[in-house]
Amino acid sequence: MWLQATLLLLASCVPSSLAIYRDEVNHIDYHHALLGLPASQSTFFLKPSAASNASLLYTLSEKSLLGAVNPKDGSLVWRQNLSRSALPVAHPSAHGLLRASEGTNALVSALGDYVSSWSALDGKLIWENWFEGEAVADLELLELEDVSAAPATKDTVALFGGKAGVVRRLDGDSGKTKWEYLDESGDIPIQLSSSATEVFYVSLQPSARKGYRIKVVTLDPLTGRQTQQQILSSEGDVFSADSVLFVGANTASPIIVWADQSHKTLKVNVIGTKQVHAFDTDNSSGESISSITVHAPKKLESLPHFLVHYETESTTWAEVYHVDLTSALVSKAYELPRLQGWSVFSTSSKDANVYFTRITQSETTVVSSASHGVLGRWPHQAPPMEQALHSVSEVVAKGDTVAVRSAAALASGDWELIRNGQTEWTRYEALAGALAAAWVEEDAQEDLAHQLEVEGHESLYGAYMHRVKRHARDLQHLPEWLKGLPKRIFTSILTDEVSNLDGFGIVRPVIVATENGRVYALDAGKHGAVSWKVKAADTESWNVKAILTQPGSATIHADDGSSVTLDVSSGEILERTPGTTKIRSVAVAYGDTAPVTVGIKEDGAPLKSVDGQGFFVTLSDDGRVLGWAARDNQTPAWQFLPPPGEKIIHATARPSHDPVASIGKVLGNRSVLYKYLNPNLALITAVGESSATFYLLDAISGRILHTSTHQGVDPTQPISSAISENWFAYSFWADAVDSSSAKGYQLVISELYESPIPNDRGPLDSASNYSSITNLPLPHVISQAFMIPEPISHMAVTQTRQGITVRQLLCTLPSSNSIIGIPRPVLDPRRPIGRDPTTTEAEEGLFKYNPFLEFEGKWYHSHSRDVAGIKTVLSTPTLLESTSLIFAFGGDIFSTRVTPSQAFDVLGKGFSKLQLVMTIVALTAGVIILAPMVRRKQINAIWKASS
Ligand SMILES: *[C@@H]1O[C@H](CO)[C@@H](O)[C@H](O)[C@H]1NC(C)=O
Ligand SMILES: *[C@@H]1O[C@H](CO)[C@@H](O)[C@H](O)[C@H]1NC(C)=O
Ligand SMILES: *[C@@H]1O[C@H](CO)[C@@H](O)[C@H](O)[C@H]1NC(C)=O
Ligand SMILES: *[C@@H]1O[C@H](CO)[C@@H](O)[C@H](O)[C@H]1NC(C)=O
Ligand SMILES: *[C@@H]1O[C@H](CO)[C@@H](O)[C@H](O)[C@H]1NC(C)=O
Repeated sequence: MWLQATLLLLASCVPSSLAIYRDEVNHIDYHHALLGLPASQSTFFLKPSAASNASLLYTLSEKSLLGAVNPKDGSLVWRQNLSRSALPVAHPSAHGLLRASEGTNALVSALGDYVSSWSALDGKLIWENWFEGEAVADLELLELEDVSAAPATKDTVALFGGKAGVVRRLDGDSGKTKWEYLDESGDIPIQLSSSATEVFYVSLQPSARKGYRIKVVTLDPLTGRQTQQQILSSEGDVFSADSVLFVGANTASPIIVWADQSHKTLKVNVIGTKQVHAFDTDNSSGESISSITVHAPKKLESLPHFLVHYETESTTWAEVYHVDLTSALVSKAYELPRLQGWSVFSTSSKDANVYFTRITQSETTVVSSASHGVLGRWPHQAPPMEQALHSVSEVVAKGDTVAVRSAAALASGDWELIRNGQTEWTRYEALAGALAAAWVEEDAQEDLAHQLEVEGHESLYGAYMHRVKRHARDLQHLPEWLKGLPKRIFTSILTDEVSNLDGFGIVRPVIVATENGRVYALDAGKHGAVSWKVKAADTESWNVKAILTQPGSATIHADDGSSVTLDVSSGEILERTPGTTKIRSVAVAYGDTAPVTVGIKEDGAPLKSVDGQGFFVTLSDDGRVLGWAARDNQTPAWQFLPPPGEKIIHATARPSHDPVASIGKVLGNRSVLYKYLNPNLALITAVGESSATFYLLDAISGRILHTSTHQGVDPTQPISSAISENWFAYSFWADAVDSSSAKGYQLVISELYESPIPNDRGPLDSASNYSSITNLPLPHVISQAFMIPEPISHMAVTQTRQGITVRQLLCTLPSSNSIIGIPRPVLDPRRPIGRDPTTTEAEEGLFKYNPFLEFEGKWYHSHSRDVAGIKTVLSTPTLLESTSLIFAFGGDIFSTRVTPSQAFDVLGKGFSKLQLVMTIVALTAGVIILAPMVRRKQINAIWKASS
């Protein structure tokens, strides 16, 4: 009976099902899907289809990404990369345009010569079209009154500015040209506008003396034929296309607004009429007006009202104007008060009503376009809001009250949604311009390390006293620790979160520097939430070269030689050093003491000499590789020039932290292949017309240790490389040059050994020390190539604390927007070719070579996420040997932790402490109950045997 009960109790402790690891997506990793700063004229709220109630927020960003964001939580609904223009990216007119109209499911965008239409609901492509050599200057959707001529999808009119201005009407379903109007007069095309019945083409006609006259050509929307032409005498005011402040889009009465150069008078013309209305601008403050912006509703049924926003150095105000549709008269209706500081205005319309929303640093207000009464006023929470550059708003009116939500693009590069004065979410779009990142060095750990170091250097007695004092200091935390103990025990037993790994350096914050001069700290413990951000440089193009972290602080080096040191916990700026010389990179010399940074000039020479044994390898702007002894910055120790016709595109060295767990590779038959371990290896990539050459150099002597050349390589495709331990890898795209070569993307792995013969150390065997300069032996290289399905734009290698864990080759795949980690054993160049492995080879873990390397699903660290635009992937060890941290940036931000050999030093999630305790209790109970029974039985047996 007892026995049965005990067994039942024991059975209840066995798990009912085998442990299944919970999906760790979103638990160990985080991803910021970014768009870049929204562009002012191409951002709006829109209902994605006529049937939907809720609108989405659409933008075409300055990074040429088109995206839809859910205004509720700021999450990305979909996005598309529009950088498909055939024009050079830096083309001045390659700024993007995005248009949409309520009730249609299509967005139309243009970037350079590329025009495309996208489904608003899911971001699927409807049509795309390239217009070679012609950059789109303006885009409008046709809102025709005549319903028979206005199909469900609206046609687009686009203005192209090439050698001559061309207006084209593009079919809404196919993007095909319906008609085109060619303007060969030589005038500068600037904008398009349309009313319900006409299309207006606005251009600037050079006047005889100076300045430009504004020319408005009226076109028939059905045929594209010119029906009328108006010339407005603006030559006294307009000196460039920028002088025209506004050409009204799709309102019932489109307008043209411009001002004279000193912003004294505002001129308004209702398009199609000859009359120009002039209004004197307010100059009561004595400050000159720095900018004028016009805001008008876009919808056909909206009231013909518009708002003019004036800015001076310190104040802003606005005036609202009404247009009389019958007489085409423009009149000033009312003014919005002049306020100190910045304001941004936005327009929203509901049926015929038009609302203007004003955001200042302290409040949001909404007025109707019809009268100046404030319909809603919401103070912002403290602290004062950061300066906004522009915003879009959506106003909902219920009876007399209104509610508003606004998405404001901030000067810091962030995008913030404010609903009735409350900040709902912030998207840190500036992170899309991340140039450098680094993990924060934990302060506390370093402190302990420092204390231990002190103890190591003191006399025996001094060290003993130091330690006693340190422990005495630690005692002050004892009461707290004791108080928290019961709670800790209970929570650790009862929750399934068995292992809190925060203490093992797994949750390390990351510092990111962006091109607009900001520095962000991302908290890995909170899914990469921004814990602080600061403006570290007053520039929009901060070319950061490196971030170096010290315990408690981080130093950011920019290309002008300047550096900024920040406190990593608060973002406070501790020190600034101004720049003197332009640098192309920053080298770090690890001496006996703290690491020393050295700027590398554009000619490849270090800025200063460093006291120490180190060596630098640098690249110069004219394509040479130079080697320097750290204490000499005048003459390079050696230089390497690629052969004529070749250009060096990349150089990489072994990571500074690259521990080697074993100096040899143990083969199946217990013999050992010794690894060629040279800490000073550099891998140089050079490309020719249709070839790529990879040079393996010894950084101290500059000697070439190994060269491999590949023919038929397309140098315009991504070529990436990585080197670690005793191996290096690279990938490229090659065409078939002969019958033995293959066409496609290739990944080549090479391993370096001291000798081809196992158990032999080659020439190094007898030499206990050797000099790089005189007698450096060459490595024995074993290589193998694999065909891979897609290009690799960047490579990195996982790093762990001791290097015992198998390494992974981290590859960025730009065509599928993923990051994968290929386990090194898969890339073993010694895999047997054309036969199955022998038993000894199988024991070594080798398996049959297959020339096609398919990327397995479990290699994808990014899982199904769309991790786009990644330029750099970093890896760092943690205190756990099994675990390596990964941080990827450049476009999106993605971070995860990987365990290439499984988490062998961590208890799994399925491990239940409660079950363990229960089992022990049950076993103890069982022993207590069974022990007397067994003893009695034994005694009985003895009695039986002896009787
Ligand atoms: C839109 O709102 C109406 C009423 O507010 C509701 O009945 C309808 O289901 C909503 N439609 C969608 C698609 O959410
Ligand atoms: C406004 O007046 C001041 C002097 O009172 C003058 O310097 C300034 O140029 C004027 N600005 C405009 C835009 O009229
Ligand atoms: C062990 O195997 C390697 C090839 O795998 C071979 O070259 C070597 O001679 C073998 N060593 C011994 C001691 O059998
Ligand atoms: C290294 O070799 C040099 C000469 O080649 C010799 O003078 C020196 O003593 C050697 N050092 C050691 C540690 O063996
Ligand atoms: C967009 O595409 C361009 C060109 O293909 C590429 O350089 C850029 O990195 C892409 N951006 C993102 C965020 O994917």
